[in-house]
Amino acid sequence: MPLEQRISELRRQLNEHSHLYYTLDAPVISDGEYDLLFQELLNLEALHPELVSPDSPSQRVGGAPLTSFAQVRHGIPMLSLENAFTTEDILAFAERILRFLNQSGPIAYVIEPKLDGLAVELVYQDGLLIEGSTRGDGLIGEEITAQIRTIPAIPLRLRKPLQGRLEIRGEVFMENEGLARLNEQQLLSGKPPFANPRNAAAGSLRQLDPAITARRPLRFFAYGVSSPEITGCTGQYQLLSLLADLGLPVNRLTRLCPTLGDVTAGFIELTDLRHSLPYEIDGMVIKVDSFALQERLGNKARAPRWAVACKFAAKQATTRLLAVDFQVGRTGAITPVAILEPVSVGGVMVSRATLHNQDELKRKDLRLGDTVLIQRAGDVIPEIVMAIAEKRDGSEVSIAMPSTCPVCSHPVIKPEGMAVTRCYNPHCPAQRLQRLIHFTSKAGLDIEGLGKKCMEQLFELGIVRDIPDIFSLQKEALEKLEGWGEKSAENALAAIEARKSPPLGRFLVALGIRFVGEITAGLLESHFQSLDKFIQAQRSQLMEIEGIGEQAAASILEFLADEQALEMLARLQELGVFPAATQPSENDLPLSGFVVVFTGGLAGLSRDEAKKRVKELGGQIAATVTQKTTHVIAGEKTGSKLKKAAELGKVILSEGEFLRLIKTPLP
Ligand code: IVH
Repeated sequence: MPLEQRISELRRQLNEHSHLYYTLDAPVISDGEYDLLFQELLNLEALHPELVSPDSPSQRVGGAPLTSFAQVRHGIPMLSLENAFTTEDILAFAERILRFLNQSGPIAYVIEPKLDGLAVELVYQDGLLIEGSTRGDGLIGEEITAQIRTIPAIPLRLRKPLQGRLEIRGEVFMENEGLARLNEQQLLSGKPPFANPRNAAAGSLRQLDPAITARRPLRFFAYGVSSPEITGCTGQYQLLSLLADLGLPVNRLTRLCPTLGDVTAGFIELTDLRHSLPYEIDGMVIKVDSFALQERLGNKARAPRWAVACKFAAKQATTRLLAVDFQVGRTGAITPVAILEPVSVGGVMVSRATLHNQDELKRKDLRLGDTVLIQRAGDVIPEIVMAIAEKRDGSEVSIAMPSTCPVCSHPVIKPEGMAVTRCYNPHCPAQRLQRLIHFTSKAGLDIEGLGKKCMEQLFELGIVRDIPDIFSLQKEALEKLEGWGEKSAENALAAIEARKSPPLGRFLVALGIRFVGEITAGLLESHFQSLDKFIQAQRSQLMEIEGIGEQAAASILEFLADEQALEMLARLQELGVFPAATQPSENDLPLSGFVVVFTGGLAGLSRDEAKKRVKELGGQIAATVTQKTTHVIAGEKTGSKLKKAAELGKVILSEGEFLRLIKTPLP
């Protein structure tokens, strides 16, 4: 297949799979298969930069960082919505509409979930995405085109040819799972977690460096256009179906409601559904379906008359702030936790709430003895919304972050520009316990039976003080734990035994070294190949590894400079714990350094399979023969590539020789 055709075929396939995944929620290939196609496109485009087009899926990855955001004036203002909270409010909204229109018959409405994210406008010119902007104050927003392009759910080109300019509006948001993962990473790198999906979406989009946005799991739902009349649609429901046809994700819970009864029923249905959704919604938007009626109803100053946002009743309550506890995490981060007079919030008793960090304490100006408004959204940890200042009588006491660790009394430090205060004593008992809990947890070595409760007991009893103690546990000690017996003790010992040769990367993650998450640990494993080599790591070696930065390197070196850490590793080896490399070394894969070009058809396996094998074995694929090429694989009916290879004196392999090289037996 000619090169240009292959490139456009790859783009077509990649766009199709993105559409199936993000818009239709029905993927047909695995992530790995997608990555292979994507890599092939990247390779071909790298060899032929002149063939790169702005709507190629490869063009999502980032672009150069900006120094500031440009302003964008919205041709048609992006309005806000009025709120309704009860069924009565909904009825009043509908009555106002009938009165305004002087109409008595039923009016059809469209109901849509109200996403908790950030409103954006996407501009498509002749089908091509040319601009993205935030809502801003409704009139002027920020230009975030490069950031918007990184969101895989947003098509770079519409799926149907469409002349002229189309301004599409919708919500960028983050799914709960994506948010949880992001917050884990935030904590791991010493940054404060995002309090809710809206902050996370806004914080991710408003990044001057689009490469950061690209790493954030952002999604998108379209809910309208700036000027519906130009679409030829007569109503909102028809418009949403057009947007879906154009390839934009449209929320599947959208309904056309012929009567007001359908609207209120829909609200109750959505209220029930909301907690089973993978993303947060904070209500439902009701819109008059007909664009002709919308036009007649018009807008008030900031919101249209034809739409309203029905907010779900927030699960809130007031109570008293009795005390603030300071908890010390695995990496020494000190988190303030509010101790509250127990109160029922939406049917659940709440006596603690997270305060995230010191900045949050300050921002909310909380004082001991305050009456506070608390809320519980979905399954998230309850939080304090604000202190009710009117209820103060002067006896309230301001709250200070401790200057020493509440557990080990070591002085604590809040580094410049960081939100998190930390205890930097690596031997702090609180950190040691958290490290032990992490070591055996699912995120660590995943030792069945040794969950959080068990580790807490073992630590308190002084049976397990450090990681090696886990591997010298005796049956008698385990049997005596609360709720344990002979059988559970035996099972736990077997689980411990089974983890004595963990993959090196897993083991490094389990140690809980700051900034060493799964990815970094994987890089360390393939670079060092053994624990002994890792222990002797030098700064220069660490910095050589692509993907390991200053912070991680510094943290690893600090760990390796700690006598007690080294002693612990030595004791583990004495106890028969031998982490082993499971990933091939980056340098000794059989085809490392090979740059392979295929020419002519292969009989025994498909070209794609062959390429996949080469890549798996560490080789690179190129499309044309150049000086860099090391091997040319000649199948049947070869062409000019073979001639070129011969001219340049490259190694030419027959299919049989190639198969022997990749060790796939001949059919
Ligand atoms: S319609 C004039 N539809 O809610 C119509 N907005 O308070 C204005 N939102 O800024 C927007 N889901 O960020 C509309 N299905 C939906 C929505 C939605 C979320 C947000 C949007 C807007 C805010 C209005």
